[in-house]
Amino acid sequence: MSNWIRLFHRWVSIVFTVTVLANFAVMSQQPPPPYIVYAPLPPLFLLLFSGLYMFALPYVAKWRAARRTA
Ligand code: HEM
Repeated sequence: MSNWIRLFHRWVSIVFTVTVLANFAVMSQQPPPPYIVYAPLPPLFLLLFSGLYMFALPYVAKWRAARRTA
């Protein structure tokens, strides 16, 4: 499960980077249309939640291990 989340985070980070680069590419020619401006937000939200999950993992593991020995 956590491995799946890590892979997901890795690939969505690439999608996110591409959408940010698309913004700069279009901006250099003309003011970007709204669908380009807001394109990074959905992948950013997915990164936020999968990232927070990965952040919490080691703490949850420690907490569970401590409960087992008690
Ligand atoms: C939005 C909030 C984000 C949070 C809370 C977050 C959190 C994390 C955490 C906790 C890890 C695991 C670190 C570890 O090894 O212990 C991680 C890995 C990573 N993050 Fe994020 N992240 C966020 C956004 C991003 C963004 C915007 C990018 C790039 C565009 C990104 C790219 C990566 C990559 C490439 C890894 C390594 C994944 C792997 O091991 O395959 N993250 N992130």
